[in-house]
Amino acid sequence: MRVAAWALAQNVPRGNTAFVGARMRHPSAVQPRRAGMDRACSVIGECMKRTMLFLMMATSAASILQAQTFSKDVAPILQRNCQMCHRPGEAAPFSMLTYEQTRPWAKAMLAAVVQKKMPPWYADQKVGKFANDRTLSQSDIDTLVGWVNGGAPLGNPQDMPAPREFVEGWTISKPDIVFQLPKPFPVPATGIMEYQYVIIPTGFTKDTWVEQVQAAPTNSSIVHHIVAYVRTPGSNYFKDMPKNEFFEAPPAKQEAAPKDDVPSDWLTGFAPGQPPDVFKPGQAKLIPAGSDIVLEVHYMPEGKATTDQSRLGLVLAKEPPVERTMTLSAVNQSFKIPPGDPNFRVDASYTLPEDVTLLGLHPHMHMRGKSAQYRVVFADGEIETLLDVPKYNWRWQLWYDLAEPLKLPKDTKIECTEHFDNSPNNRENPDATKTITWGQQSFDEMMVCMFNVAFDAKITTKQMLAPPPPKPAQTEAKPTAERGSQR
Ligand code: HEC
Repeated sequence: MRVAAWALAQNVPRGNTAFVGARMRHPSAVQPRRAGMDRACSVIGECMKRTMLFLMMATSAASILQAQTFSKDVAPILQRNCQMCHRPGEAAPFSMLTYEQTRPWAKAMLAAVVQKKMPPWYADQKVGKFANDRTLSQSDIDTLVGWVNGGAPLGNPQDMPAPREFVEGWTISKPDIVFQLPKPFPVPATGIMEYQYVIIPTGFTKDTWVEQVQAAPTNSSIVHHIVAYVRTPGSNYFKDMPKNEFFEAPPAKQEAAPKDDVPSDWLTGFAPGQPPDVFKPGQAKLIPAGSDIVLEVHYMPEGKATTDQSRLGLVLAKEPPVERTMTLSAVNQSFKIPPGDPNFRVDASYTLPEDVTLLGLHPHMHMRGKSAQYRVVFADGEIETLLDVPKYNWRWQLWYDLAEPLKLPKDTKIECTEHFDNSPNNRENPDATKTITWGQQSFDEMMVCMFNVAFDAKITTKQMLAPPPPKPAQTEAKPTAERGSQR
């Protein structure tokens, strides 16, 4: 992940002042035009008006040029938009907590915000409104650009805002319960790692409602992703596997087909850019009495042997919620992407068996992922596009939380279309000569469209599940990652 990030950084135009030229011209550059303007004035009043207008424009341009300092103008923007990732211990490669740490990156920051690579956000602005939209406002972009082009000065240290407080290690409130991998997992310097699983018994003797949940690595540099599943008592999911020990998924045929509940109900996930789950008051996820947590961790070695002991933090609801939240997904496992195909389409859908409120969307693909679109098709045939991600970036597993949760009646269909680029023009494509099918590794593919819903807490899990998806394309079914909640 890092390597590609740096490759990207090399390609961006450094300190590209052309962007600025268009927006802000230094007053002196405009000066010569004034004489001509004076001569053209026939009426005094008209002249005055034009001169006033000119002066106003000049002063605003001049004040933008002069006033941008780190302490007064830039630090507040970084606190609001960047520091959550750009601070020690988080995923980003450098810290923006202090002027000294930030200053060497000024030109890269300019390029990143002007090209809209940072903050990471991939939804087309014209479709839908999202509560967690990270897009910078144009005025914040202008301020950052003005600051960099003005030499990126510190300004008066007295102007510096009070540092923003972050809860160390957790972005949720202080967890009531923390489950952790039984011991530090040794991650080698190189190689491709299978997903590592650990079954952790919760010991919960009654149904437990969770209103905030976060999976967190202790070493974020080598954790590609974490998923925490709930395994209910009697589930066949990993039935014969040991508890509190690391293991890799056995071949799928050893697992009896799950008959009852969701074999592996999605509790939460971690991946760069993916926020933890924090539900509204009155909403919570259910961990039924006697359940286990199944933690799935995908490590990606990065050149140095190290360890990680990922954790899961739960903030419990003080009373049973009115609404239950659940992560569901429309999935298609039966695709075969031909070698070289630059725009291969795969569709999936989920017809809602009950009334729900739709909360958020999360398209999931791997290296060949190109674009994603979610639509709702109402029972009367009306179609509404909910999310359009025209240029998907698999390195950012983002959730798009609806600004206004959407009530969807029973029998509404959620449709999802994802396109894949298996051509050599896709810079992320490791091999354009292969036919690509469903698989766990980043060089295999997945077609998953997850979404979060809230519904009457009395509705059971079984009632919420749509009919099962088509089987994978391969004859030998591989164990799949997000198996349970996919339908
Ligand atoms: C959600 C987390 C997150 C947020 C928010 C975020 N960054 Fe980043 N940033 C990263 C990560 C991770 C990387 C390294 C990987 C990459 O470049 O994709 C990175 C890389 C960068 C780079 C390095 C080189 C480059 O251009 O790729 C710059 C510069 C940068 N970020 C600037 C910013 C600025 C400025 C903001 C705020 C306006 C910001 N970032 C907000 C996570 C974040």
